[in-house]
Amino acid sequence: MSKTIIVSNRLPVKIQVKRGETIYKPSEGGLATGLGSVYKGAGNVWIGWPGKIVKDKKAQDKVRAELKEMHLYPVFLTREEIDDYYEGFSNEILWPICHYVPSYAQYKHRYWEAYKQVNRKFAESVLQLAEKGDTVWINDYQLLLLPFLLREKLPDIGIGYFQHIPFPSYEIFRQIPWREALLEGVLGADLIGFHTYDDIRHFMSSVTRIMGLSSTANHLTVHNRPVVVDAFPMGIDYEKFTEIAMLPRTRSNIKRIGKTAGDAEMILSIDRLDYSKGILQRLQAFDLFLKQNKSYCEKVSLLMVVVPSRDEVPQYRELKEEIDRLVSDINARNQTLGWQPVFYFYRSFPVEMLSALYQTAQVCLVTPMRDGMNLVSKEYVASRIDQKGVLILSEMAGASKELSEALIINPNDVRGLANALLEALEMPESEQKERMCAMRKTVEKFNINHWVKLFMERLKEIKNMQRSLATRQITSTTFDVILNKYTAARRRIIFLDYDGTLVGFNVDPLKARPDKELFNLLDQLLQDERNRVILISGRMYETLDEWFGHLPLDIIAEHGAWTKKHNQSWKRYHGLSDDWKREIMPVMENYTDRTPGAFIEEKSFSLSWHYRKVESGLGEQRAMELEDNLKFFAEDRELQILQGEKVIEVKSNLINKGKAAVFLLEEDDYDFIVALGDDYTDEYTFRALPERAITVKVGNKISEAKYSIPTYKDARRILFQLAAAK
Ligand code: UDP
Ligand code: G6P
Repeated sequence: MSKTIIVSNRLPVKIQVKRGETIYKPSEGGLATGLGSVYKGAGNVWIGWPGKIVKDKKAQDKVRAELKEMHLYPVFLTREEIDDYYEGFSNEILWPICHYVPSYAQYKHRYWEAYKQVNRKFAESVLQLAEKGDTVWINDYQLLLLPFLLREKLPDIGIGYFQHIPFPSYEIFRQIPWREALLEGVLGADLIGFHTYDDIRHFMSSVTRIMGLSSTANHLTVHNRPVVVDAFPMGIDYEKFTEIAMLPRTRSNIKRIGKTAGDAEMILSIDRLDYSKGILQRLQAFDLFLKQNKSYCEKVSLLMVVVPSRDEVPQYRELKEEIDRLVSDINARNQTLGWQPVFYFYRSFPVEMLSALYQTAQVCLVTPMRDGMNLVSKEYVASRIDQKGVLILSEMAGASKELSEALIINPNDVRGLANALLEALEMPESEQKERMCAMRKTVEKFNINHWVKLFMERLKEIKNMQRSLATRQITSTTFDVILNKYTAARRRIIFLDYDGTLVGFNVDPLKARPDKELFNLLDQLLQDERNRVILISGRMYETLDEWFGHLPLDIIAEHGAWTKKHNQSWKRYHGLSDDWKREIMPVMENYTDRTPGAFIEEKSFSLSWHYRKVESGLGEQRAMELEDNLKFFAEDRELQILQGEKVIEVKSNLINKGKAAVFLLEEDDYDFIVALGDDYTDEYTFRALPERAITVKVGNKISEAKYSIPTYKDARRILFQLAAAK
């Protein structure tokens, strides 16, 4: 039976040695706590680092055997690897970059070398376990190179990648010296998931700008393999948190906390030690709140849990010192004999204690500067079985996109935060319940199982789509069938689109001229008297005439507005008007003036607005605006607006390549019909031809064609092979 192999830097458990005994404790961090509760199904396994250096071979074997019982497979890291791959590249480059603190990034080449090496080490571990039909699910930024490393060895395997932290804007990501290699690495996956739509936008913009890949919506084609990028906001194990809330141990913890806090209301915050969590700003806001609201002194305390994390990294060490200082300062200035303003714990707690804290806190203060999702906010909501309590949530956390009933704040706005604290503490119970109820419904529905299911189903869908595209690919067997039909035929008609089908894409359309090889190919096809060859293009007839007018073939230009048969002159399609151009041209000119690099191509019965030379992103945006602008105008005048490869074309809807092809097809009795095309305009041809026609899509896009081939080079190759057959 096929299994899922989860891979992440850290396993959901970590090794601790107590009195010479090895014990396993739950790992910290949202990835481990979230996925940790769902991976154990149907022979699934998890590969990752067990959180401690184990040098001795025998000790490694022992750990390996013990972890295997839990379906976990360790990757042991050396001191140097931890220094340079984990603390270095992952946490001194990728973490600050993805959390918008580029000034913290240390671009050391040593880190990069270690990152590559450890990603290879993880790849070896996966390869030892992976079997045919398995799915590999790679989690988080420490393993960005792993998808490609696996793809090289296992071309057909399903690979999903999910990033638990934000993906930054292109402007920030581009600063990394090894940006291309990182993107190429992750593009080895079939499905790339993030928490939010903003992350998708940023990722797509980096991929299109840095790698020069083109995209349609959230789809990319990477070496002819469709790759999908999508948002999957991660959930928590809602049921587990509601159950834990009622456990006897949790209830007794609640009593203990009540005794410590006395009569004071409790504001709670829980984070790993991290500069992305806004811990200092939160303390400042609490300090300001006390200054502004003296009546709350002795009535409210902040209980702050900071879980130790990455304290070998200099910025984390410094942050810890600053927190220590600020907490002591606030307490020293404000505390009274019977009241402590801040209770500060630098440690982690078992989940029954966390649940008790969540249930006791009148307010939960979650104020990260940036956070992929933030599960603490969801755990607070799930633990509030009494439906009371107020969540104050940073708009910079992914969770804020779902938990809109929280008090949403900007974590940099210390005054706003202090005001939100007052609002939360004074919120009537009825309003608390209304907001909490709504949030509980969201957290319940979009729980961790739902998240896993959505991700896995999407990955399956993509693999199916890839398979159906692959079955359409012309293989040697399907080619033999086509060849047999070709050789047996008495009269053949061959429709060939030009751009993208017989030649590659060029930034300057006039530079995409036919080359020697192409003329040679056409000559060979035309030498056989049984062949009628038709070039069928959207290009201007003047250009096609200049390039191909001397050859004994037929040409359909401008989508059928003009036709030239061999030995005849150009004929215009009757009934077409170009009056509309007078009105559309000024609109397009306006957009051209506003958009450096854009240009208009005027054909007799159509107008094209090209943006292939425009700054990436701006071109797409202007094109959308232009289309919007022209839509209503076009409807009234029987015009059609076509979105092509970096072009918007307006033409009469009375003509298209399909109609033009059928006119020529009806002139004789053909027993072999073939059409090759690469873009949306060729779909009209594919649709209009009879069922027995052999229709071939060049490229990997969705199409009505029966077959597909990867590029124009393959199109030339099979046409040469046909022409050579007698
Ligand atoms: N957590 C924990 N022990 C603690 C405090 C927190 O296991 O003492 C867990 C908490 O329950 C949550 C996770 O750590 O599931 C933190 O995840 P979050 O997404 O909020 O932040 P991350 O640490 O992933 O940046
Ligand atoms: C975040 C990251 C995880 C990481 C966790 C704890 O949740 O998304 O990938 O495991 O923090 O950080 P650590 O460096 O201790 O693994």
